[in-house]
Amino acid sequence: MSDNALTSIKDVTVKVLDGKLVSKHLRNQIRAQVAEFKEQGKRSPGLAVIIVGDDPASQVYVRHKIKACKEVGIESFEYQAPATLTKEDLKKKIEEFNQNEAIDGILVQLPLPEHLSSDEVLTWVDPMKDADCLTAENLGLLWAGRPRTKPCTPSGVMEILKYYEIPIQGARAAVVGRSEIVGKPMGLMLLQGDATVTMCHSKTLNMRQILLESDVVVVAAGRPLLLGREDFKKDSVVIDVGIHRDQGKLCGDVRFDELEGQVAAATPVPGGVGPMTITMLLSNTLDLYRLHSN
Ligand SMILES: NC(=O)c1ccc[n+]([C@@H]2O[C@H](COP(=O)([O-])OP(=O)(O)OC[C@H]3O[C@@H](n4cnc5c(N)ncnc54)[C@H](OP(=O)(O)O)[C@@H]3O)[C@@H](O)[C@H]2O)c1
Repeated sequence: MSDNALTSIKDVTVKVLDGKLVSKHLRNQIRAQVAEFKEQGKRSPGLAVIIVGDDPASQVYVRHKIKACKEVGIESFEYQAPATLTKEDLKKKIEEFNQNEAIDGILVQLPLPEHLSSDEVLTWVDPMKDADCLTAENLGLLWAGRPRTKPCTPSGVMEILKYYEIPIQGARAAVVGRSEIVGKPMGLMLLQGDATVTMCHSKTLNMRQILLESDVVVVAAGRPLLLGREDFKKDSVVIDVGIHRDQGKLCGDVRFDELEGQVAAATPVPGGVGPMTITMLLSNTLDLYRLHSN
């Protein structure tokens, strides 16, 4: 068992599951693999990022994604378009990226302006280049247990659990939230890790009782500071996916400060799941690169 293992500090204080640390560890591995491919005379992996409109949060996310690509040696191709971009022009651009052999992954930053339906736009992305695992084909492969890529946030959570050697097999796990990009795939991945999973949502009755019986709880409700000490079982592990800005300060869906002496380990906000999402995008791009290089 490594020094990361959860069991070494049980019961004493909350062990902070440090997403920045896990992210750094994985990005170092990705950087080393990209460097190895380049030493073999191969091209760099490529990620195309499409952003339509000027949503400030999206602009920040895209900047972070491009910077992260650069840091690990993935080439990025950015397409910035005004909110007035037509459906036809967006389709043309995606088809151009689909054909471009230097590009392994395509990411369409969501949300899109109202006149562009994300459901329709995602059908234009070649599933072999779907870096976010949002196409029906790739979600189907994930469902079938043969993933080509994985939804970034839940796979980031799985990597945190793996890094800290938190036992999932046979554990009772609960997921709070059932969104398409976080909650649903999170439940599926925990199930595929042999946990016994309960999915909770806004209509769940007696949610606290379910959580109090759960060894691992992943919270992705999008409700600031929704859950606290009284909602979690002694020595359980709490993963907080939520991210909110309150008067300039970031917080999650969980009242982290209350967890001391109750839960065994938890992710903070910021510095927990957040840094993992972009890292898993890099990881998906590398996986697609390998498929294209074979
Ligand atoms: N860290 C990251 O990189 C990252 C990535 C993605 C998202 N996030 C954050 O994660 C949070 C969730 O995101 P999302 O896209 O999954 O949100 P979402 O689409 O709004 O889904 C929220 C889910 O939580 C459920 N819910 C809401 N209030 C609840 C309550 N009081 N009790 C139980 N369930 C409740 C909803 O149930 P119903 O289905 O019944 O409405 C829904 O399924 C947000 O804060 C988001 O900003 C972070």
